[in-house]
Amino acid sequence: MFGPRLDGKNGVTLRAPTLDDAKIFVRWMLEPETTRFWGGRTADFRDEAFAERHKKNADDPTRVIWSIAYEDETVGFAGLFDIDWVARDCESGIFIGRADLYGRGIATEAVRLRTEFAWREMRLHRVHNWISLRNRGSRRANEKSGYRQMGLLKRYGFRSGQWYDDWLGEVFPPGSPAGTFVPPSKGG
Ligand SMILES: CC(C)(COP(=O)(O)OP(=O)(O)OC[C@H]1O[C@@H](n2cnc3c(N)ncnc32)[C@H](O)[C@@H]1OP(=O)(O)O)[C@@H](O)C(=O)NCCC(=O)NCCS
Repeated sequence: MFGPRLDGKNGVTLRAPTLDDAKIFVRWMLEPETTRFWGGRTADFRDEAFAERHKKNADDPTRVIWSIAYEDETVGFAGLFDIDWVARDCESGIFIGRADLYGRGIATEAVRLRTEFAWREMRLHRVHNWISLRNRGSRRANEKSGYRQMGLLKRYGFRSGQWYDDWLGEVFPPGSPAGTFVPPSKGG
């Protein structure tokens, strides 16, 4: 499924991805900056494969995905995956494809919008993810919406000739007995 338009602060919006977005996502996933800590570096890059993947994403009831727009231009991708509608749990993911825009708070705002949507619209109970321990930008963007470490996977990923540990994170809705939510405005 595709997520609805969610307008955030500082020019950041989440919106339903178009087929053109789907094509650019795959191109970005070939860039070394985007895949330094994450993602596969080989894929099917034929035109028909983009369209098929886009349709699959639209049809899949276990995922909600968005394009991230910055000042009305698509700059990245955010999503909730593997949704378990009984346990009300899922995994989250994000990337900004435009390396020239890193560090402007785009991921922080996109994670905030996505997390709020998980509670207010989807009534989820928990969202979890795993992030390379060395990927400080991704960890911080998630921590500022309340994600906290629940574990560490030692030597989980292999990249550019070396092993990486993965940080396992999770977040619970406000008031959940399972966790404490820290609103971005109050630190984190
Ligand atoms: C990781 C990523 C999503 C961060 O996006 P962003 O828009 O640059 O993040 P923000 O500007 O919101 O910054 C979030 C925090 O990370 C910090 N940060 C951002 N990039 C950083 C970097 N390269 N190194 C260290 N810290 C970084 C920011 O200073 C900020 O921290 P602070 O609030 O404590 O000062 C983006 O760099 C990216 O898409 N990378 C490639 C794909 C990827 O790794 N996706 C995540 C997979 S788990």
